[in-house]
Amino acid sequence: MKPSDIYTVSITYDWRLYRQDIAGSMAHVKMLGKQSIISKDDVDAICVGLSKIENEIENGTFPWRNDLEDIHMNIEGRLHTLIGPVAGKLHTARSRNDQIALDIRMYTKDMVLKVIEKITLTQKALVTQAQSHSDVILPGYTHLQRAQPVVLAHHLLAYFEMFQRDISRFEECYNSADVMPLGSGALAGVPYDIDRDHVANELGFNQISSNSMDAVSDRDFLIQYHAAAAICMMHISRLSEELVLWSSQEFGFVAMAPEFRTGSSIMPQKQNPDFAEIARGKTGRVYGYLMSILTTLKGLPLTYNRDLQEDKEVFFDTVDSLFATIDVTTLMIDSLKFNSTKMTEAANFGNMLATDLADYLVSKGLPFREAHHIIGKISNYANDKKKEVHNLTLKEYRQFSDLFEQDVSEISLESSVRARNVIGGTSPKRVKKALLTAKTILESRYGY
Ligand code: ARG
Repeated sequence: MKPSDIYTVSITYDWRLYRQDIAGSMAHVKMLGKQSIISKDDVDAICVGLSKIENEIENGTFPWRNDLEDIHMNIEGRLHTLIGPVAGKLHTARSRNDQIALDIRMYTKDMVLKVIEKITLTQKALVTQAQSHSDVILPGYTHLQRAQPVVLAHHLLAYFEMFQRDISRFEECYNSADVMPLGSGALAGVPYDIDRDHVANELGFNQISSNSMDAVSDRDFLIQYHAAAAICMMHISRLSEELVLWSSQEFGFVAMAPEFRTGSSIMPQKQNPDFAEIARGKTGRVYGYLMSILTTLKGLPLTYNRDLQEDKEVFFDTVDSLFATIDVTTLMIDSLKFNSTKMTEAANFGNMLATDLADYLVSKGLPFREAHHIIGKISNYANDKKKEVHNLTLKEYRQFSDLFEQDVSEISLESSVRARNVIGGTSPKRVKKALLTAKTILESRYGY
């Protein structure tokens, strides 16, 4: 083929829509039969031919032809070869414009269901790890400075929440895609007595589109998928970043299984967290695709324009990058070995109980601001003495306020987390409840 012939070809990638294309054609043709627009014999012949084509594609024997440009023409062309001119009746009351709108909506819905299944497995891995670490205390950080002690399960469940929001975004995308466009024709609707609801029912759509011009040009649901994917990748990237940090010698909080690390070709001592890094890196690509689809759509006049063909490669690569990354992340989480000793050791340094000391003074009647001021002074004193604020003697505390009493020695990492017993707080009691809730959510979703 000449370069000018190849330019418009999309079969090299849109073959991925074959299942949706065939299912859509079958539903369409059966409806044409039901409405007596074509004969029952023709319907049967077309359906037999389409099933055969599906088998050929699945067995790898389908003769793909670039000169037939896209998935629709490849399938229709093959149908002609298999069943003769009756194949031409399939495209009655249909245009490639509403056909592709249908295929891509069906594919999007499938990809939403798949991604939710995958994210659920990641959440399950997080919950399993959280469950076995519900009492491990580590520093919680703000500004990447040690701030207040938290339990590891609480930290891990923060990601569970992010993934919950991802799932609801994908569900919204599903609802947007769940609108059946066939019957819109090229742009204005078709001049046949078709039954659109019947097709929608057959194909499992919840609604039919209400404006043919919008229906053939709408790709909002795809943008929603890209946006949800970009946000989900961002969450995975943040988790990856923490794993990279935590597995460094500086932190030493976690070790990944050897299959998720790679040695250096020059420095024999090194074990690099490549999988987490690649997950973090692929996020950039998925962000790019969101910008790509938005830009493709931005200048299009109604209705269908061929620019829309550009929606597919980016979508497929988004799906591939996202799925591969989620799968690897789940396995990586499963493989994590947390070093509780290191974590608790780190929590014991950095004056992380300073807020608890201030709260102690508040419990003795001091306004919080004054308490904060006094603990600030104690903290400077402790730094000078190379001690931790929670390891001073009662005598030392009393140099700053005579509200301090013997019970100040009861302040510890454990008492600190225990005290944060609000809904959403890090107290082990609350976290155990949060774990139960998380498990109930997972169980209700596909019985995980
Ligand atoms: N391959 C096209 C696409 O992906 C299918 C629709 C073609 N329609 C047309 N009028 N050329 O959008």
